[in-house]
Amino acid sequence: MKNVLVTGGAGYIGSHTVVALVEAGYNPIIVDNFSNSSEKVIERLEKITNKKIKYYNIDCCDLVKLEEVFKENQIFGVIHFAGFKAVGESVAKPLMYYENNLISMLMVVKAMTKYNVKNLIFSSSATVYGNPKSVPIYEDFPLHVTNPYGRTKLMIEEMLTDYTKVNKDFKVALLRYFNPIGAHQSGLIGEDPNGIPNNLMPYITQVCIGKLEYVRVFGNDYDTVDGTGVRDYIHVLDLAWGHVLTLDKLAKTDENLLVYNLGTGKGSSVLEVINEMSKVYGKPIPYKIIERRPGDIATCYANCDKAYRELGFKAKYNLHDMCETSWNFQQKNPNGIR
Ligand code: WQD
Repeated sequence: MKNVLVTGGAGYIGSHTVVALVEAGYNPIIVDNFSNSSEKVIERLEKITNKKIKYYNIDCCDLVKLEEVFKENQIFGVIHFAGFKAVGESVAKPLMYYENNLISMLMVVKAMTKYNVKNLIFSSSATVYGNPKSVPIYEDFPLHVTNPYGRTKLMIEEMLTDYTKVNKDFKVALLRYFNPIGAHQSGLIGEDPNGIPNNLMPYITQVCIGKLEYVRVFGNDYDTVDGTGVRDYIHVLDLAWGHVLTLDKLAKTDENLLVYNLGTGKGSSVLEVINEMSKVYGKPIPYKIIERRPGDIATCYANCDKAYRELGFKAKYNLHDMCETSWNFQQKNPNGIR
């Protein structure tokens, strides 16, 4: 059984990917410092998978401790999720983002190199496309970032690209996620942000559960179907499975730098999401149109032909499934995973 190191494996996308890895016959090993997730996620993962999940409470910036993990386990590949990811926070605290996100990636690559581990998947983001010249977005579109969080994603993509140029047997896949929402059908794991949610879906579900008064819609004067922002929402279960398909690809390809958009190829507006959620919730969800959020773009959705052609990846869940599972998770965890 192939051991796969999942850094940030107790986080939202990481934990769902751990489930998918077990389902696909891989053996996930989690490294997480629980700075933005609960250690209780581990027991929930063991309940879902009915399997003991090995984990290390380690900061990926700590090379000495990280190397211990590589020394103790024969690792086939690494999926690197660990990193700070709040756009607004990155603007206020850029050095914290550069230090944590860049150094953790560098230490992971150093440890992989020392222990001859050759397969790396990096959790990148559609944010590297900035404000695209057109939609849908293709992988060869120009890259442009407008905030420190996005810049760390782009800088890491470029570091890894440079490294693969001179290390032909080191294989990297850059996965550019669009907007992951939804949760595992059990409601045991899901999107569980600390404090007031930055992202749309957890904000909506907290309004539905009564923790927040109404949804703030950031502007309705964009050039979109109804004036509100359009995004490519993808079920986190689809996104997780995309990582399994990518690992399978890395094991058999001779190429050593792969880049894929992981989305659905379909855009939904803020009001369309609120409307779909209200069908699940069973009554209207209060919202107010307020001013635009600085840095937001009007429209962002993927062309996913390349991931389909080369990985066989195709999202199978629709917006209703995403809303249903998000709401189920929130109802089962009114105060998050504590
Ligand atoms: C979606 C839409 C908002 C909240 C960011 C990062 C991306 C990734 C996902 C980390 C936009 C609108 C939102 C709210 C709203 N992050 N909105 N009211 O900004 O597309 O992407 O999160 O991995 O890298 O850039 O996601 O959910 O914040 O916003 O109206 O309370 O919802 O304007 O149109 P975003 P989001």
